[in-house]
Amino acid sequence: MISVHGRKEDFPIFNKKINGKDIIYLDSTATTQKPRQVLDAITGYYEGYNANVHRSVYKLADEATEVYEQSRSNVANFIGAKDNEIIFTRNTTESLNLLSFTIGDSLRRGDRILITSMEHHSNILPWTRLEDRGVIVDYAGFDEEGHLDIGDLESKLKRETKIVSVTHQSNVLGTINPIDEIGKIVKENGSIFIIDAAQSIPHMPFRVRDEYDFVAFSGHKMLGPMGIGVLYGKYEQLDKMPPFNRGGEMIKDVDFHSVIFEDPPIKFEAGTPNVEGAVGLSAAIDYLKVIGMEEVRRHEKHLTSITLKGMEDLKSVTYYGPRNVEDRGGVIAFNVKDKTNVKRNLEKNNVKLDRLYHSHDIATFLDERNVYVRSGHHCAEPLMRSLGLSGTARASYYVYNGEDDVKIFLKSLGELDVQR
Ligand SMILES: Cc1ncc(COP(=O)(O)O)c(C=O)c1O
Repeated sequence: MISVHGRKEDFPIFNKKINGKDIIYLDSTATTQKPRQVLDAITGYYEGYNANVHRSVYKLADEATEVYEQSRSNVANFIGAKDNEIIFTRNTTESLNLLSFTIGDSLRRGDRILITSMEHHSNILPWTRLEDRGVIVDYAGFDEEGHLDIGDLESKLKRETKIVSVTHQSNVLGTINPIDEIGKIVKENGSIFIIDAAQSIPHMPFRVRDEYDFVAFSGHKMLGPMGIGVLYGKYEQLDKMPPFNRGGEMIKDVDFHSVIFEDPPIKFEAGTPNVEGAVGLSAAIDYLKVIGMEEVRRHEKHLTSITLKGMEDLKSVTYYGPRNVEDRGGVIAFNVKDKTNVKRNLEKNNVKLDRLYHSHDIATFLDERNVYVRSGHHCAEPLMRSLGLSGTARASYYVYNGEDDVKIFLKSLGELDVQR
């Protein structure tokens, strides 16, 4: 069980003081801090069995290969997949680009791809690059509270829609999208269903289902190291796809002008892989398993619930996304009204945008109190445009945050509320 005071004792970074005070880290949506267990696993690899994998016959290389493959099994087991359906990539972005440059490249003029208006750039740009070849990219919208408009999604799903790619949890609105319902609709249409799970797999129980063709996520957002990501792909899909990168390791046979590729997943892992990353991610998964993903979700729901309540008591603070914590994760984008600017801004004729403090000013104000939040467009500019905003501040939680963090965050925000 997680204590609601968070689990900071496992995370060496929280021993750090800045200006003599504790760090209140509220930016886990961008990247998470790493527990001692993950750091030890990485050091253990370099000190104990560092060698290149899959290519040498000596004992050390055997050990490295074995642990690398055990890490793959651990990832597979964590999401209910088979080992050969797990490809190690650099991050969610690379996982989605892998799909764009393989199945995306097989699309023709007039084919369509359906995504949503709440996507991160990494689930937009791999698809809009295909517009150059006449592929049409459609966007399903969302309602005032930030729930995905399923009716809109259904109406934009056409016979020509070959791919539907949807974020499971928005990194701005926090909205948790009903991927099982969407998956059913997508499969009835015969389209490929891709899930950007960068913000969901780290925070809630997740099992792959028959409707999911591909699932992308990042190790660094779930207590693992940077530079390791995952693409889950249904084996029959992976088997018929061409490789993404070409080079060492991913072949059965090469001649001067011909090649036979390895079977998945090795077909998609050209070159020396990130063994340290795989080992670290596996240790992160072990850490999360001890807590239990239901408990991670429960804890974040609790912190989110008290945050939203606290924000509702601050008159100048507006938050975005669903009000019901059942429909959202522990990421809260918000803005603060700046009354001092009203007159100047009315003159600029852009009232909605300019009556708010700039999100970087909010983050700087909080930074002075050692409260670390993200600010800006959060790599979701189209979403910001849909909201009529230039940016927001954003607080996000994970297993090491506790009620104390929320209290200090809300108190600091209260000071800004008073200063308006
Ligand atoms: C929803 C979502 N998708 C994709 C990404 C990209 O992740 P990465 O930078 O690890 O590739 C992020 C990162 O914040 C995200 O929040």
